[in-house]
Amino acid sequence: MNTEELKQIADALMADDKGLLAMDESLPTCNKRFKAAGIPQTEEYRRKYRQLIVTTPGLAESISGAILFDETIYQSTDDGVLFIDVLQKAGIITGIKVDEGTAEMPGSPKEKITKGLDGLDIRLNNYYGLGARFAKWRAVITIGKNLPTEANIQANTETLAKYARLCQEDDIVPIVEPEVLMDGDHTIERCYEVTERVIKELFRQLEKEGVYLPGLLLKPNMVIAGKDSHIKNSTDEVATATINCLLASVPHDVAGVAFLSGGQTPQQATANLHEMHVKYESKLPWPLTFSFARAIQQPALDIWKGKDKNVKAAQDMLRFRASMDSAARVGRYSV
Ligand code: 13P
Repeated sequence: MNTEELKQIADALMADDKGLLAMDESLPTCNKRFKAAGIPQTEEYRRKYRQLIVTTPGLAESISGAILFDETIYQSTDDGVLFIDVLQKAGIITGIKVDEGTAEMPGSPKEKITKGLDGLDIRLNNYYGLGARFAKWRAVITIGKNLPTEANIQANTETLAKYARLCQEDDIVPIVEPEVLMDGDHTIERCYEVTERVIKELFRQLEKEGVYLPGLLLKPNMVIAGKDSHIKNSTDEVATATINCLLASVPHDVAGVAFLSGGQTPQQATANLHEMHVKYESKLPWPLTFSFARAIQQPALDIWKGKDKNVKAAQDMLRFRASMDSAARVGRYSV
């Protein structure tokens, strides 16, 4: 484990006013989004779409790192340049999603556990050789009646910690993503309670595995009421609950915190991040930024619709959303 290299990469990912772009949708997720937008669900269309993203002019002004999916890391532009080389030339660090999706939790069918530890060390080695310098693993936690179970929190946090340790042994910065889902009709208070419990247990497990925190990033959900609760929290409520929850659960020596958007609208996610910086900047012990997928990409995907003639307009939208998030990350977003 080269702690110096890990820290240097983690700090570079959190530097200045930049954030991360998650463009690592798995095949089923990417195909689902394509289907909804009327785009053919083929490897070639996925390549074209990822090409649109990585060749967006000026993207690196707001984005420090891009998280790719396995299929994407081997793909190239129409001119035969590997996406990973396009990103590197632009000054964007390449990351890779290394979990292999979720499966039903034995004994608790409404909950999920994340797969992918088998053979992970070999895959990490391979990805490092290809040029990836950071990785992502997503666990999902479901809020519901008597959920989450303690067993589910244990299983998911234990696996996240083992993954993080393996990454660091291969000099890859791990992003640990314990996503407490927005699905459900729970209140913001319930989201707070579950998120705090999960993150505290995660850091207990990370410590047990001897994970080096200055070479690790946390990717949490914002603390917010469930989608079906019909409660619309104000930016002030979300910012206050989220920051209090993170201050109570995240050690100070973590390299940074980068949020997922989780199904919030792009405007909501951006405004909430902005509010956290406006209200709490001076209290934050770690850099705080974004690692959005939908909140950056969805408006661009809706413009593209799989048509070459829409590429430029879609890229303009992608750059615009990323720049709004970059402004929010330093408390300078205005609607
Ligand atoms: P969203 O921003 O769409 O929630 O995605 C973030 C992510 O990377 C999920 O793993």
